[in-house]
Amino acid sequence: MSKEKYYITTPIYYPSGNPHIGHCYTTVACDVIARFKRLEGYDVMFLTGTDEHGMKIEQKAKDAGVTPKEYVDPIVANFKRLWETMDVSYDRYIRTTYEYHVKSVQKIFKTLYDKGYIYKGEYTGKYCTPCESFWTESQLDENGCCPDCHRPVIDAHEEAYFLKVSEFADKIEKFLTETDYLEPKSRVNEMINNFIKPGLEDLCVSRTSFTWGIPVDFDPKHVVYVWVDALSNYISALGYENDEYNDFDKYWPADLHMTAKEIVRFHSIIWIAILMMLDLPLPKHLYGHGWINFNGQKMSKSVGNVIDPFVLAQRYGSDAVRFQILRDMPYGSDSNFSNEIMINRINSDLANGFGNLVSRTVAMADKYFGGTLPEEREPAELDNELIEMAKALCGTVTPLIEQAQLAKALEEIFKVVARANKYIDETEPWILGKDETKKARLASVLYNLLETIRICSGLLAAFMPKTMPKVWEQIGADASLAVYDSLSEFGKLPANVTVHKGEALFPRIDVEKEIDELNALLAPEKTFKEDEDLDKANVITIDQFAEVKLRSGEITACEKIKKSKKLLKLTVDDGRNGRQIVSGIASWYKPEDLIGKKIVFVANLAPAKLCGEMSEGMILACDAGEDDVRVLFLDKDVPNGSTIR
Ligand code: ME8
Ligand code: MG
Repeated sequence: MSKEKYYITTPIYYPSGNPHIGHCYTTVACDVIARFKRLEGYDVMFLTGTDEHGMKIEQKAKDAGVTPKEYVDPIVANFKRLWETMDVSYDRYIRTTYEYHVKSVQKIFKTLYDKGYIYKGEYTGKYCTPCESFWTESQLDENGCCPDCHRPVIDAHEEAYFLKVSEFADKIEKFLTETDYLEPKSRVNEMINNFIKPGLEDLCVSRTSFTWGIPVDFDPKHVVYVWVDALSNYISALGYENDEYNDFDKYWPADLHMTAKEIVRFHSIIWIAILMMLDLPLPKHLYGHGWINFNGQKMSKSVGNVIDPFVLAQRYGSDAVRFQILRDMPYGSDSNFSNEIMINRINSDLANGFGNLVSRTVAMADKYFGGTLPEEREPAELDNELIEMAKALCGTVTPLIEQAQLAKALEEIFKVVARANKYIDETEPWILGKDETKKARLASVLYNLLETIRICSGLLAAFMPKTMPKVWEQIGADASLAVYDSLSEFGKLPANVTVHKGEALFPRIDVEKEIDELNALLAPEKTFKEDEDLDKANVITIDQFAEVKLRSGEITACEKIKKSKKLLKLTVDDGRNGRQIVSGIASWYKPEDLIGKKIVFVANLAPAKLCGEMSEGMILACDAGEDDVRVLFLDKDVPNGSTIR
């Protein structure tokens, strides 16, 4: 019998900045499902990639002084490096700059044009460059900004092609309400109430104002709208309208598209419209998950509050990171990321919960039986609850994973882990171990624990693929006992199983020490971000700047102020009568370092007395790190008293 197929996709990400933990969420969630489906015996196609065209990328490349392709290449390499670090087992990686994808999109565009679903018109409206989204006036937020990211939009007028989405409004509504395509269900209402009910308008699907995109082959001054280009990846990557691949018939329709909520609109309206127009089968499921927020805001490249997943993976191991982001994302809603949340989750569930269960069990088998259990058994009533829970677990977890309810699936697995830890407390193996007549009972207890660990680790392997093989090694199970069918059976390990003590699977993290180290690591980025916000909130005009009179001067004399540790008294040749300036730089400069140096000072600052000394002005200096300051020095040949502007 040939295997059933399962086709799962992540969004293709914009390579406009390096990947962050938000991208990891979707990709890792898909990876878990893909791995689990493979375990169940499906023929899985797991697709991810990068969405490389559009005005945003063109602009970023221009700012960086490179071509768009030169701009995206290293970022794409970083995405791939991250997926390797995070053990993401994608089967195919698509870049929208691949020749075969370009060909497919051109053919799709032409087909839609030939069928009359794309027509030429004039576009006037609003465009959000960061989101690459067109909006009508009525869709803007209360400030006239992009309803998604709330940043300003620009006016756009140009000759353009349009996609007749309006004609499909009823069919799309029917599809969304009558199938279980879109989950969670609350998102269906969002789509209907916010987009379909107010009237679906035809969508502008070409641009002439920039060139970094796929040219419309029959009218090459137009490039294809980046969302039509991007969505098509899900079929071009299977070989639809290209010769690169040949498995469209095998894998299409997609079994699961996964994205976060902000792009559900594109996947449930525009994508469905395009597929209906092409007369193609419709995808089976779309799961629109919530965001990982950081400090109450969506973590995103453009907000600048991103957490670097490479740093986390390096510190805790990729499995712990995978586990935490999945475990703490409630189904359908947002999660909040903080270093404390991550560390506490790793400590409670992985170090104390699962890791401890494995190490205690293996250590006891080692201590009381030299690693190999004897075959004599003495079961007891007390064992049944644990055994029943372990046997039922696979049946509970399988549908949860299929429905992308990954936090719930982990919760169920960890109920059994907790039950097993409690079973150790109840059975008190350390007391049994002291009594020669209780050896058979002790063997039963340890065997039940090993079997429970085998089942849990088999189910956890999709979530933590690096660690679980180490568990199998420790509990004396080879990978053949981690096959799907054996996960609903209790008693698969040989009666005389031999365990192998190993390293701690998840070492406990010292919370306070770790937080300090992390803060030191992550601080610079945070500071810059805060500064940037302050700058934006405190804009001044050029005239306001001109009110500050900056001049050059030379320090002719300098001494410490006795009453103060911080202050130096400077005599400055200002090209006029000279002046005295008091400056708080004594921690970083000795008087002899400064004499003869040319500096910049504020000439029209109101005079003030500091520690009894008159100060007329202020010299300019720069923060140079946590506790370091550098004075701005000028070239030797600058005349004293010159205006700085
Ligand atoms: O939208 N929390 O790409 P993108 C959870 N190119 N998930 C997050 C997240 C966060 N804080 N930040 C990003 C695009 N994501 C388009 C997609 S698909 C045909 C084209 C994840 O780079 C989440 O899956 O902005 C979100 O939908 C996706 O990254 C957006 O990635
Ligand atoms: Mg986005």
